Amino acid sequence: MTRTPVNVTVTGAAGQIGYALLFRIASGHLLGSDVPVNLRLLEIPQGLKAAEGTAMELDDCAFPLLRGIEITDDPNVAFAGANVALLVGARPRTAGMERGDLLSANGGIFKPQGKAINDNAADDIKVLVVGNPANTNALIAQAAAPDVPAERFTAMTRLDHNRALSQLAKKTGTTVSDIKRLTIWGNHSATQYPDIFHAEVSGKNAAEVVNDEQWLADTFIPTVAKRGAAIIEARGASSAASAANAAIDHVHTWVNGTAAGDWTSMGIVSDGSYGVPAGLISSFPVTTKDGAFEIVQGLDINEFSRARIDASVKELEEERDAVRALGLI
Ligand code: NAD
Ligand code: LMR
Repeated sequence: MTRTPVNVTVTGAAGQIGYALLFRIASGHLLGSDVPVNLRLLEIPQGLKAAEGTAMELDDCAFPLLRGIEITDDPNVAFAGANVALLVGARPRTAGMERGDLLSANGGIFKPQGKAINDNAADDIKVLVVGNPANTNALIAQAAAPDVPAERFTAMTRLDHNRALSQLAKKTGTTVSDIKRLTIWGNHSATQYPDIFHAEVSGKNAAEVVNDEQWLADTFIPTVAKRGAAIIEARGASSAASAANAAIDHVHTWVNGTAAGDWTSMGIVSDGSYGVPAGLISSFPVTTKDGAFEIVQGLDINEFSRARIDASVKELEEERDAVRALGLI
């Protein structure tokens, strides 16, 4: 049976994450090895030529699943009929820029893109925001798309989730596939909380296997939460291949489902669960099935976790209040 190609829009396509992402989408890693794709690449005018170069390379790979590539600087064209949108392009923080300036500059990107998604995307659109500050950029885009169900706008904390898996595997002398039910709570920022109290290592409770609260507080949590800055320090540029890999994982899991007995972490619109104010885009433990997700309910949150979840949620509330004051939501 010939399948209809899925339209995948990538913004910031000429950037470093875009370069690491597009070839994997075209080779079937995003949606599956039997799903053909059309790529729509959105760039600002200065990025169009480099995006054309990447498109030439994509052609030269002769990927059997790649049915078409369109390059544009017009969001209405880029999101026309989009089934999946990866919002990667964002305004980086530059020297002397205050947080308010950063939020305002990104509002200028994510508000019109949210509206273009609202007006042009396919009914089944799924949006992943990667560009930082990812949670609040997702909130801005979601608020500009009142006709799209709010749960279709998500922010990426899968990179944090994957970082936490690797750190915990190293500590426990296991492999990442031995670990299940790890959770990233809150914001994709240094306040995020990687939670191992409900995680399992080879079927045993991870916190009990580790049995070292000092390592948890002083090594594990800061290593995961500040990993992005450590990569920038070491590489001279922010994470790219690992970020692209996490974006692939996020969408693949959303579309194809979590494994039985496991869950993942996604930044999603809160329904008020676990005391996170409704409407904020915050990371939660989620299971996915048939292209939809649900927050894992009923987890017992201890004092150690509560304080850390609350701190990250407070930061999200402050970011929300700042973009509200700027008229962006
Ligand atoms: P980059 O600077 O290499 O590329 C960004 C690209 O976006 C550029 O080509 C630029 O021209 C383009 N762009 C800017 N404004 C645009 C717009 N309005 N429409 C379309 N394209 C636009 O950056 P990168 O390394 O690819 O990172 C992209 C973003 O992802 C950054 O904000 C970075 O902080 C973020 N990031 C997030 C995570 C995460 O885990 N959520 C991880 C790593 C990086
Ligand atoms: C990361 O987590 O690697 C990035 O979000 C860091 C950054 O500031 O781009």
